[in-house]
Amino acid sequence: MHSQYELTRHNSFAFPAICPAFYQPESLQELNDIVKQLPSPFYVLGEGSNTLFAEQTTTPILQPNFKGITVEEHDDFVLLSAKCGENWHELVNFCVENNYYGLENLALIPGSVGAAPVQNIGAYGTEIADIVEHVSWYEFETKKIRTLSKQACQFAYRDSIFKNSLANKGIIIEVTLRLSKKWQANLTYRDLDTLPIDASANDVFQKVIEIRQSKLPDHNKLPNAGSFFKNPVVAKQLYNKLLTNFPDMPAYPQENGTVKLAAGWLIEKSGLKGFRVGDVGVAQTQALVLVNYDSKNGQDIIKLAKYVQAQVQLKCDIFLQPEVRLLSSKGLFQLTQCKQV
Ligand code: EPU
Repeated sequence: MHSQYELTRHNSFAFPAICPAFYQPESLQELNDIVKQLPSPFYVLGEGSNTLFAEQTTTPILQPNFKGITVEEHDDFVLLSAKCGENWHELVNFCVENNYYGLENLALIPGSVGAAPVQNIGAYGTEIADIVEHVSWYEFETKKIRTLSKQACQFAYRDSIFKNSLANKGIIIEVTLRLSKKWQANLTYRDLDTLPIDASANDVFQKVIEIRQSKLPDHNKLPNAGSFFKNPVVAKQLYNKLLTNFPDMPAYPQENGTVKLAAGWLIEKSGLKGFRVGDVGVAQTQALVLVNYDSKNGQDIIKLAKYVQAQVQLKCDIFLQPEVRLLSSKGLFQLTQCKQV
């Protein structure tokens, strides 16, 4: 355990923050010992690419760092199990190199394997929910590992049971994925439709990397946490109302009759793409990303996020919810909608 641990290199926004106690178990035995003494509240951190440290101090942090990949071969598929501390993109790369198919569209997503199911990472027409076989989850109370099937994980858009009823009750130790040995490209996402239909897995992998690099700022050069807000899902009535003002608005109808809108587009239409205030701003290439030019204070991003929410609310009557997790010294918190007077 490290006390008074400095966290700048543990968050992709690169904010300095002090953690009173930082635990980094690498084995079950170490985890069992830590659980006995873990102060509450605490926060489970992966590589810190989807968390904003909103204050100068955080709660105590548990960062599981188990490593290892195993592969169980079957005729047409493999069951690949990766420990939580593995890096997500390196895993995707490993699979493409070994001809295990299914992860190509999820290339270059920052973060750890253990964090991936928590928010059901997704990009370019694929979500981890499409590929998960099961998740091995360690329960603090019993110190036992439970195997959760894909159904039990309750995956939804950027959501899972790990963010809800199982939050802070345990940690993901290992993720088992079902990957095909037979290649079939998923080119449904608009940006991938320039690829030929016989594109190889490596072609898709490289194309996704190219698109991401052209749109999303590299957090090593310009600190950020990817999409700051979730794409809002709205009722058909509101969608129809918005269409009268914004006939060219991108929209993705959902099975239950609601419509998913593009938050980046709404922010751009609100006049905020490239907007900068002091040392933080809205990215110039993707309005859904908030960037830290040179701030040392997470509150600057909070203030900017509230401003973006207010402007989009004013223009489009939609309250954007953060996708990034907001951590204070007391734990996670939400940005709530101000009542209109
Ligand atoms: N758009 C704009 N202006 C912008 C940004 C987007 O007009 O500044 C428009 C685009 O032209 C497009 C639509 O909005 O018509 C959607 O944009 P894009 O395809 O770039 O995707 P997104 O909905 O903004 C989501 C994910 C990304 C993921 C991409 C690709 C969320 C919150 N974000 O973004 O995930 O990479 O789709 O699948 O769902 C992340 O979660 O950190 C992340 C980067």
